[in-house]
This record gives sequence, C-alpha cells and structure tokens, in this order.
Amino acid sequence: MSDRTVLITGAARGLGAVVARRFHDAGYKVALADIAIEPAQALARELSHDGSTACAFKIDVTFKADFEAARDALLERWGSIDALVNNAGASKVIPVMEITPEQFDQAIDVNLRSVLFGCQVLGQYFADRGTGRIVNIASLAGQNGGSATGAHYAAAKGGAITLTKVFARDLAPYGVTVNAISPGPLDLPIVHESVPADKLQKVIAGIPVGKLGSATYVADVAVLLASADAYFANGACWDVNGGLFMR
Ligand SMILES: NC(=O)c1ccc[n+]([C@@H]2O[C@H](COP(=O)([O-])OP(=O)(O)OC[C@H]3O[C@@H](n4cnc5c(N)ncnc54)[C@H](O)[C@@H]3O)[C@@H](O)[C@H]2O)c1
Repeated sequence: MSDRTVLITGAARGLGAVVARRFHDAGYKVALADIAIEPAQALARELSHDGSTACAFKIDVTFKADFEAARDALLERWGSIDALVNNAGASKVIPVMEITPEQFDQAIDVNLRSVLFGCQVLGQYFADRGTGRIVNIASLAGQNGGSATGAHYAAAKGGAITLTKVFARDLAPYGVTVNAISPGPLDLPIVHESVPADKLQKVIAGIPVGKLGSATYVADVAVLLASADAYFANGACWDVNGGLFMR
C-alpha cells in the first residue's frame, strides 16, 4: 500500500483527522485538506515530521477551484492520487421553520456543493487514469431527516447520497468507484460541543446499541472502500448508525 495516496477534506479535526490517521496507519501518503490550515499542518507534522508521507493544504470545499488547486499541488508533490474522502461538512441545529435562505445556502455549500466539486474534479482525474476511489461522508440525517441536526444539513446529506449514486454509475466504466458512508452520532468533539448534555443522554438512550459510534471504525470503513480490490463495492451507502435506521 505504500505508494497509495489519499486526499481527505476536513482533516484538521474530528472524523477527518481520525480518517487521516487510519489511512496513514494503513500505509497511505495522506494529504490533509482543510479551511483550518494550522491544525491540519500540525497533524500532518505529527504523522510525518519530514512531510514525506503526510502534508496539509488549505482548501475551501465550497469552491471548485480549490479542489483543482489541491489536485495539482498533490500531483506535483507525489505524482498520483488514488482516493478522495469528501469529509468536510458542518451542521447547526435550527428549527426548520426558522432556517433563513442564507443559512440554507450555507449548509448546501459546505455539505453538498463540496461533494459535487470533489467528485467532478478528482472523479475526472481518476477516470482519465482508469482507476480511483471516492468515499463521501454523508450522514444518517440524510436518510431519516436527522434528530440532533438541522433540516438544511439533512437535506444536503440526502443530496450527497444521491450524488454518490450518480457519480458511481457514470464513473464505474472508467475504473472509479464512489460510495457514501452514513454515520449516526459519533463519539466526537463536535457532538459533545453542539448537543446539550441532557439532550445527548436522550439521544444515546434512543440508539439501539446504547452508545455513540466509533470514529475509528468509520475511518476503517473508508480505508476498506478505498482499497484497490474494493472495485465491486459501488454506489452504496454504508450505514454505521448503531441500529438507529434499518432498511
Ligand atoms: N460527528 C458526527 O457524529 C457525524 C455524524 C454523521 C456525519 N458526520 C459527518 O462527518 C464529517 C466530519 O464531521 P465532524 O464531526 O468531524 O465535524 P467537525 O466540525 O469536527 O470537523 C469538520 C472539519 O471540516 C472543516 N471544514 C468546515 N468547513 C470547511 C470548508 N468550507 N472547507 C474545508 N474544510 C472545512 C473544519 O475546519 C473541520 O476541520 C462531516 O461531513 C459530518 O457531516 C459527522
């Protein structure tokens, strides 16, 4: 695996940082792309003090040109890219009737346009190369409307799952697979920061397995889907939600 390279968005903290660590553990060279460049650089340095197997790029995933710049910079640095994890996202709890047009657009920008642009830019590169893996981090909210998240976020994540299917279908003949992972609430800082403690206890009590999800496990699913022999897993939404949503 030592020659494989992955680009991970939103890798400065939270799930993206765990995904970066697990890909690095699996022998990948990892590019940590985030709008928060300093923590991304710090993690890259921690993973690889000389930058030989980890590096950081500033990216705003709401701009297609930023994906193009990251692709070009990474190709110049390491010569090839094998996988993309579209992980960057953001959510805010706002009652559906109170969501403003600006808040709606913002949620769509960071959670959905980002997936479109990542799949377009890296998907085209992978298709030209004849091989590639894309993993889109969606959410249980995109399947069931969400519980501790906003409707705008849930709608965007539902769109990300749909885009996953479209790109999976269109890119499959070129050796490129595209899958989504839909986690339920994970044991991550953002969950503890954004959900009041009493509400979080109720959320946990409602999860059939009785606990929050493991970010490490979700990261390992991403590594599995990015492997070269994962060619038959395509267009799927991988549910990791403790039994909150079954189909
Ligand atoms: N935490 C959960 O329980 C949970 C559950 C389901 C899905 N998810 C999804 O997992 C992904 C990661 O979430 P998290 O919990 O780690 O959140 P987080 O807020 O801790 O981390 C998000 C990261 O994305 C980066 N980011 C935000 N906007 C960006 C932009 N415009 N351009 C580039 N980077 C940007 C942030 O700087 C941050 O490093 C998101 O897509 C989220 O929707 C999380």
